[in-house]
Amino acid sequence: MKKRLGVVTLTVMGIFLFSAIFAACANQVAERGTVQAKTAAPAAVATTPKAVAATKPAPATPKPLTGAALYEGTPKPLTPVECGRCHTGEYNDLKQSKTKHRFACTKCHTKFHRYNPIKKNWKAIMPKCQRCHGYKHGKAFPNCMQCHINPHSPRTIKFASVTKMVTLKKGKKIIACGLCHKKEYTEMAKNPCAHNTEVGCQGCHADKHGYIPNCLDCHEPHVQGQKFKDCLVCHSPHSALKIKKYPVTTPSKICGSCHTTEYEHLRDHHTKHSNLTCAKCHDKHGFIPKCQKCHGYPHGAGLHKRFPNCLECHIDPHNLPTIGKK
Ligand code: HEC
Ligand code: HEC
Ligand code: HEC
Ligand code: HEC
Ligand code: HEC
Ligand code: HEC
Ligand code: HEC
Ligand code: HEC
Ligand code: HEC
Ligand code: HEC
Ligand code: HEC
Ligand code: HEC
Repeated sequence: MKKRLGVVTLTVMGIFLFSAIFAACANQVAERGTVQAKTAAPAAVATTPKAVAATKPAPATPKPLTGAALYEGTPKPLTPVECGRCHTGEYNDLKQSKTKHRFACTKCHTKFHRYNPIKKNWKAIMPKCQRCHGYKHGKAFPNCMQCHINPHSPRTIKFASVTKMVTLKKGKKIIACGLCHKKEYTEMAKNPCAHNTEVGCQGCHADKHGYIPNCLDCHEPHVQGQKFKDCLVCHSPHSALKIKKYPVTTPSKICGSCHTTEYEHLRDHHTKHSNLTCAKCHDKHGFIPKCQKCHGYPHGAGLHKRFPNCLECHIDPHNLPTIGKK
């Protein structure tokens, strides 16, 4: 940014602007010349409306403006398209990135064409993001253009800056993602699993900011046919071992992929419990229900007092002994 231009370029700029002005004047002279030439040759066949107009009796030749009259108009500010005639790169960046920065260039560039390599004033005249946005992500990120590398396409982010480690005041180092995404960072820190140590934020979110990974890129499903969105029913990606509450309709074969004994007992030894999903009794992972929650005390107080544990007779909820029934 500071390495700007240099005297040579300034000279070039001078010549450029001078020739632009010169060319403009020459043009005006030339244009007037053609008008005069046209009025002088009325015999030419008039076809276009413009030409028809030109064949009409010559209006009084407009007097060229001179002196104070040259200053009667009010110059209009240049529009972005007009700036873009010379600055095609910046104009096209703004246009193609569809950024919300597509407003008048001069809203940002309140000062322009003022760069002077002797004064080294590049920084001073260039727009400051903070003027409009303040410290958008907090004081830890003061250097906006370190990540937003192009003000004319501000959503273009340099990923390397996003993944760097940031040292906090207390000396602790954390990954930059964590400062902006506190919720996800805290959730992971509080629920450590192999994702913390073996993967990390950028291990899953890959090398483009905002990329959402698919669990199935790295893992086999528990049962065939499970889709990515099914995983999120039970697993939050940032606390994968903390199993969420799943719906009662959750297919039992998912549970059965790990708890084969219970699954096979219920399947192969049919009782009325076989009609229930695992989730109907275990509505949260690891939760063990009480028989009484559903059945109360069906056999009379005396028996229950003597045998407080239902399983002394019923043995296994997944494999109930049944007498005289199929
Ligand atoms: C949102 C604010 C913003 C808008 C809108 C904006 N610019 Fe800029 N522009 C900047 C900033 C900030 C810089 C400084 C970049 C740097 O320091 O490298 C800059 C730099 C420039 C430069 C110098 C580039 C270089 O590195 O040589 C030009 C030329 C320029 N802008 C033209 C334009 C034109 C033309 C428009 C409108 C079509 C425009 N800008 C709209 C913020 C803006
Ligand atoms: C006739 C051509 C022309 C037009 C029109 C023009 N510029 Fe420039 N501009 C230049 C040239 C030449 C330079 C110096 C070389 C360079 O850095 O590209 C320059 C440099 C700049 C710079 C960087 C250096 C500085 O001194 O500010 C900015 C910012 C800038 N122009 C903004 C604008 C904006 C905004 C507009 C419209 C309001 C505009 N320009 C219209 C030719 C033009
Ligand atoms: C003249 C005021 C102004 C300046 C200076 C300015 N911005 Fe903006 N910026 C805006 C406005 C207005 C929006 C749209 C805000 C909205 O809709 O909430 C915006 C939107 C953005 C967005 C959202 C993405 C988009 O393109 O829609 C980003 C990122 C951004 N600005 C970054 C920057 C950075 C980085 C700088 C400095 C290089 C900067 N801005 C300078 C006014 C400005
Ligand atoms: C460490 C990198 C980094 C730095 C430094 C940084 N930003 Fe950002 N900024 C981002 C990322 C990443 C986004 C999200 C872009 C997206 O939506 O894809 C963002 C988004 C934004 C947005 C749009 C917010 C929205 O809700 O859509 C604005 C405005 C913005 N930044 C302004 C700034 C300003 C002003 C500064 C300097 C004070 C700054 N940024 C410094 C990385 C950074
Ligand atoms: C300087 C702040 C900043 C940094 C650093 C940052 N982000 Fe972001 N990120 C944002 C902003 C702002 C958004 C867009 C606003 C939003 O949707 O919350 C965003 C959006 C996202 C999204 C959501 C995309 C979506 O579709 O909802 C993901 C995922 C993301 N960032 C991951 C990361 C990861 C991973 C890192 C570190 C490698 C990181 N971000 C670093 C500010 C940042
Ligand atoms: C095991 C892979 C994995 C790891 C590691 C991971 N994420 Fe994510 N992240 C995901 C998935 C998958 C989603 C999409 C979740 C969804 O759609 O509900 C996501 C979503 C996000 C979102 C968007 C949230 C939203 O509501 O839109 C952000 C922001 C994010 N992660 C940040 C981070 C940060 C910061 C880290 C590191 C502290 C991180 N992630 C670590 C897989 C991961
Ligand atoms: C970028 C690859 C990657 C993605 C994407 C990913 N994981 Fe992992 N995951 C790993 C690795 C590596 C391990 C550790 C080795 C292993 O157990 O396979 C792991 C381990 C796990 C563990 C066991 C953790 C432990 O400490 O025992 C669970 C649960 C898990 N992943 C679930 C998920 C879910 C759910 C998703 C989607 C939200 C997901 N993973 C996305 C790579 C990934
Ligand atoms: C019905 C809930 C549920 C669904 C849906 C689910 N999981 Fe799991 N998953 C679990 C439970 C419970 C564990 C065991 C947790 C433990 O070890 O404490 C687990 C463990 C894992 C593990 C750790 C390694 C292992 O196999 O023991 C990985 C990896 C995993 N799941 C990936 C996935 C993926 C990928 C999906 C989506 C295709 C998915 N899970 C869908 C409940 C579910
Ligand atoms: C990926 C393998 C896996 C899947 C899928 C899985 N579990 Fe587990 N389950 C485990 C592991 C490992 C444990 C023991 C560690 C623990 O307590 O978290 C466990 C523990 C349990 C326990 C408690 C056992 C005890 O001794 O306290 C119950 C009940 C249970 N699971 C039911 C289910 C149900 C119901 C489902 C389906 C919704 C299911 N599990 C899905 C792996 C799995
Ligand atoms: C009718 C309710 C009910 C259904 C349906 C049910 N369970 Fe259970 N499950 C229980 C009860 C009650 C216990 C506690 C048994 C005990 O204390 O020994 C239990 C215990 C368990 C245990 C722990 C076993 C141990 O030895 O510690 C696992 C694992 C388990 N169930 C998995 C499953 C799976 C998988 C399914 C579906 C295939 C399932 N359960 C269906 C009621 C049920
Ligand atoms: C979530 C509720 C629930 C829990 C917990 C539960 N059961 Fe059941 N049980 C049922 C339902 C529903 C039936 C079928 C009732 C019917 O059709 O009349 C049933 C049926 C039975 C039957 C009759 C089986 C048959 O095939 O005729 C026995 C015996 C039984 N339960 C014992 C138990 C025992 C012992 C426990 C505790 C270890 C238990 N149940 C826990 C819901 C539950
Ligand atoms: C002393 C043994 C014993 C104890 C203890 C016991 N039961 Fe039973 N229960 C039985 C017998 C025997 C049957 C009849 C079996 C059959 O018809 O298959 C039965 C039947 C049932 C039935 C099925 C009723 C029906 O109409 O089909 C349920 C439900 C039941 N018991 C629940 C419980 C619960 C809940 C407990 C604990 C609070 C419990 N039992 C404790 C012996 C016992």
